[in-house]
Amino acid sequence: MKYFIANLKMNLLNEREVDRYFHDFGKYLKKVDLTGKIVVACPPFVWLEYMEDFESVFQKVKLGAQNVFWKYRGAYTGEISPKMLKNLGVQYVIIGHSERRRWLNETDEMIGKKVKAALDLGLKVVLAVGEFKKNEPKSLIINQTKKALSDVSRNRIKNLLIAYEPVWAIGTGLSDTPQNAARSAEIIRQVVAQKFGKPIAKKLPILYGGSVTSKNAAKFINYEGIDGVLVGGASLKPKEFLKIINFKK
Ligand code: PGA
Repeated sequence: MKYFIANLKMNLLNEREVDRYFHDFGKYLKKVDLTGKIVVACPPFVWLEYMEDFESVFQKVKLGAQNVFWKYRGAYTGEISPKMLKNLGVQYVIIGHSERRRWLNETDEMIGKKVKAALDLGLKVVLAVGEFKKNEPKSLIINQTKKALSDVSRNRIKNLLIAYEPVWAIGTGLSDTPQNAARSAEIIRQVVAQKFGKPIAKKLPILYGGSVTSKNAAKFINYEGIDGVLVGGASLKPKEFLKIINFKK
């Protein structure tokens, strides 16, 4: 199975933009064979409910969110409960994106709590990890992965995906090489194997993210040990994103 996740970030500012985006998305989607592929679209929170209007798209595409809080209810001003996401039909949630680590000071501890809370509720979690600078030691992604999974139990792991996203490659046009990305994915897999055993680690989907375009996507997706892509900028153009999904095997 190959995964294609559109992280739409803080874009699509009004109904007009949303309508145009998902209208085009639906149009191109018709031309794509989705056998063996899972496509997830993660719009901003405020549009999650509105996605009901795009039934023909979301019959084929899963709905995802870009973040979540770790408590289910209560006095947490401005936060979004995993239960709210569930109630809106959200199936996937990205946790630990580097933009949240950077701009909102999300720590590994916070990310660990979010991962646990979301998995406990049956949401599928796309945990994002990645080093900040090129050639930084791999101990960083090892620690990020360990801490994010520290309270996760074995019976929850089937709903976990990990996205390896080197921060220096995000939004810069400078993607990592498939070889390096696969090496990092293997390191992440080893961390998971240490905690949950090799068979579970082998099955865990690990995606690559960071300046993925229709030009370079196939190289990542076809590489052994990489199970798909998390796409930011290129996912804002439906035609380009659907080209990525339609990658050449
Ligand atoms: P990018 O973003 O594709 O624009 O590099 C990826 C991401 O932030 O998930």
